[in-house]
Amino acid sequence: MKEDLVLPAPREAATDSPGEPLLQVEGLVKHFPVKGGFPIRRTVGAVQAVDGIDLSVHVGESFGLVGESGCGKSTTGRLITRLMEPTGGKISYRGKDITRASRKQLAPVRSEIQMIFQDPYSSLNPRQTVGKIISGPMEINGIEPEGGRDKRVRELLETVGLNPEHFNRFPHEFSGGQRQRIGVARALALNPKLIVADEPVSALDVSIQAQVVNLLQKVQKELGIAFLFIAHDLAVVRHFSQRVAVMYLGKIIEVGDRDSIYTRPRHPYTHALLSAVPEVNLGDGETGGRERIRLAGDVPSPINPPSGCRFRTRCWKAQDKCAAEEPPLIQISGNREGHLTACHFPEEPTIEARDEDIVLDPALAALEEAAAED
Ligand SMILES: Nc1ncnc2c1ncn2[C@@H]1O[C@H](COP(=O)(O)OP(=O)(O)OP(=O)(O)O)[C@@H](O)[C@H]1O
Ligand code: SF4
Ligand SMILES: [Mg+2]
Repeated sequence: MKEDLVLPAPREAATDSPGEPLLQVEGLVKHFPVKGGFPIRRTVGAVQAVDGIDLSVHVGESFGLVGESGCGKSTTGRLITRLMEPTGGKISYRGKDITRASRKQLAPVRSEIQMIFQDPYSSLNPRQTVGKIISGPMEINGIEPEGGRDKRVRELLETVGLNPEHFNRFPHEFSGGQRQRIGVARALALNPKLIVADEPVSALDVSIQAQVVNLLQKVQKELGIAFLFIAHDLAVVRHFSQRVAVMYLGKIIEVGDRDSIYTRPRHPYTHALLSAVPEVNLGDGETGGRERIRLAGDVPSPINPPSGCRFRTRCWKAQDKCAAEEPPLIQISGNREGHLTACHFPEEPTIEARDEDIVLDPALAALEEAAAED
């Protein structure tokens, strides 16, 4: 499974140093209007898909964004890549406000921020050859790399572990994992500084998920590209991300460095995500250090979210204050630097992490083992 990464020749010297903020998002909001009424349709409400989130991604860093289906992860990714207009808030890239930048103003930034989509089947044009697909971003941006676009396409195919001679083939001639590699090659074509990867492996067979995660990780490390890695469970990002944010119903409810989030989670929802394991008989009647939590009920509608803390309808610690006051996302007492939690009655910070509490996909588990042996 180990693959050597063939690096494309850098087209420009790296000017950023790791750790500096690359992307900053403040108070980001996206509300989708809900129309109703007959015969005159009017706006009767709004889907509060993203409702005031702050986050920052540093140069070369992998930042994980996690949460259940419908919590607003993809919308966040699309707002950041400016595929969608925000309702409110601010997006800065390298300190420049790009929230309302015009197409023209955005052009240089667009090439630096790329997206990898969840579905490698629908995100590639079936009528275009792989060469055309990968060189598309160069064509759109009028970029002629040294040695020509074809040479660059071959280099990129090699980088992602595909045969460079296959540039004339069509997407249907490739497997799912190979198609996602094509998507990665396309995202790399313009030497991006930030890739938003929206559940890039969840549509793939479990057996090949690890290979694609492995490729992305190599790309991230060796090319120094920052990632916003979106996933619905904490297992995938645990392997990939240095910092992790947990989203619930359009809000970030906890964020921090990986170790802090996995070993000292404070928000009840993060606890629930980490312990979302089917009942396991440990043989001695014990359930182990971390309480196993089953989340009751469904996620409430983002059209009419609960008052105060949005998690309160499913939270076992909820009290009156939780309905009355929205908990701010802050560094609560006992948290490490940079670990922020939005909860009035957080969990104790002392709970020991237990690896067996985190459900890993078999393929990812194998990958972690391989990484540990390195
Ligand atoms: N174009 C749209 N118009 C109206 N509502 C939308 C639109 N796009 C997303 N939504 C709604 O916004 C909410 C957030 O959706 P989003 O796709 O961002 O969630 P997600 O976290 O990516 O979920 P998943 O894990 O299923 O991909 C959902 O309630 C969704 O139905
Ligand atoms: S604020 Fe209240 S309802 Fe929300 S997570 Fe904390 S304890 Fe639960
Ligand atoms: Mg999504």
